[in-house]
Amino acid sequence: MKMPEITRRDFVRLGAGAALTGAVARTTLLEPAPLAAQSLPDGRRIRFAIVGTGIRGCDLLRSARKVPTGVCVGSADLYSTRLEAGKEAYGADFDATGDYRRLLDRKDVDAIFIATSDHHHRRVTLDAVAAGKDVYCEKPMSHSVEDGFAMLEAVQANKRIFQAGSQRVSSILYAKAREMYASGQLGEVHEIDAKWNRNSPGGAWVYPIPDDASTETIDWKGFLVDAPDHAFDPRRFFRWRCFRDYGSGLGGDLFVHLLSGIQVITGMNTPAQRAYSSGGTYTYKDGRDFPDLLETAFEYASPNGSVQVHVHCNQSNDDGDQTIVFNGRLGTMVVTGNSVTLTPQDVRPKFEAYGWDGMTQAQREKGRAAWNAAHPGPLPPLPETETFTLPQGYDDTAVHIANFFNAVVTREHVTEDEVFGNNAAIGCHLANQSFFHRTIAEWDAEAKTIKA
Ligand SMILES: NC(=O)c1ccc[n+]([C@@H]2O[C@H](COP(=O)([O-])OP(=O)(O)OC[C@H]3O[C@@H](n4cnc5c(N)ncnc54)[C@H](O)[C@@H]3O)[C@@H](O)[C@H]2O)c1
Repeated sequence: MKMPEITRRDFVRLGAGAALTGAVARTTLLEPAPLAAQSLPDGRRIRFAIVGTGIRGCDLLRSARKVPTGVCVGSADLYSTRLEAGKEAYGADFDATGDYRRLLDRKDVDAIFIATSDHHHRRVTLDAVAAGKDVYCEKPMSHSVEDGFAMLEAVQANKRIFQAGSQRVSSILYAKAREMYASGQLGEVHEIDAKWNRNSPGGAWVYPIPDDASTETIDWKGFLVDAPDHAFDPRRFFRWRCFRDYGSGLGGDLFVHLLSGIQVITGMNTPAQRAYSSGGTYTYKDGRDFPDLLETAFEYASPNGSVQVHVHCNQSNDDGDQTIVFNGRLGTMVVTGNSVTLTPQDVRPKFEAYGWDGMTQAQREKGRAAWNAAHPGPLPPLPETETFTLPQGYDDTAVHIANFFNAVVTREHVTEDEVFGNNAAIGCHLANQSFFHRTIAEWDAEAKTIKA
């Protein structure tokens, strides 16, 4: 298709400075509130313990030590070396055990952080809330739809504060994106495209297996817990994301972050209505259950009609940062890991010559003259393209943890509560159900299940 023909007169109407795109761009650095200024009533500090001090558990502890309103007083892990890794990450000594239930018995523990493989989230959450603890549980909140609702009901029945832990939900970046989305600058949005690719063995969950890994150092039966029995296999322990018995594949690993971002920015805090996935295992043919490339087309309901959400993750290509693109009638908003940019669409009236190509010169000229007469005067300038960026080193996990500690005191729900976390995790389960059954997965809200 030819580009619309633009005459000198149109150019003047558009304004020479704004040229064809009208693009005036502005970049602003976002300013975070200092975490050190956080305080709770009576100088109180939330006493928390953490279950699972592997990759994420250690990262959580590194972020938590920046948050003055909480203090870690205990940890549990099934691999004895990781008990040391957790203390090292936090930079302090505390009670460390192989059995998390010992931490739940402690009356001085207010809250439990859960950073175990996905298949332990339900059990640890249920035990923790029954023991009167508030819970910060890593994403994906659940390993199955059924687990998610069991967790949600237990949290609510025990009147506990629950926060799921996906990235950026508490970030000032998402707050800015939400503000821009709500401002109407995008117009109606019916199409969202989200992706997160990684191109390395680590990005494909081929994590190192340390040389002390054995049944002496790892409580293998404790790891299997409700999963089918299996002989000791360190690959399954350290690379559990590859296996359906313990993990949730790309859906649970990365889709959930993207879907949580979409939920918080748009306010669509519901499960998708349906999903269709495709993909395959193209590079990592190492006996894993999950594909290394997954694409899913989700359909969400919204007050203005449905929203099509396309999510894709590929472990064999990295074409840049994670992105969520909101395509609206009046603007396009691109959210990456550290920036949000809103570019206005040029919907100002223009003479579209293409439609006149099949007519005579005389008709074309007449058409253009009529159009110019109907649109006198210069066009308004396009609004600016605006970008907001995060300062270097901004740690949204620390802010997420601080929000959780505040909620433990105020008893007010956090944004990523049990309903929000469950909805995002349902997206992951819909995607996996569709992939493995080669069918459209439909959400049955009344029955709280995926239609067979
Ligand atoms: N929010 C994020 O950005 C982010 C990043 C990475 C991982 N995660 C999530 O964090 C969780 C952990 O992932 P990871 O990469 O740290 O896994 P990991 O395998 O590195 O660590 C998990 C640890 O949990 C321990 N564990 C499991 N069940 C336990 C139990 N019942 N009691 C005590 N310890 C137990 C294991 O021994 C293991 O050391 C997953 O749900 C994952 O999806 C979130």
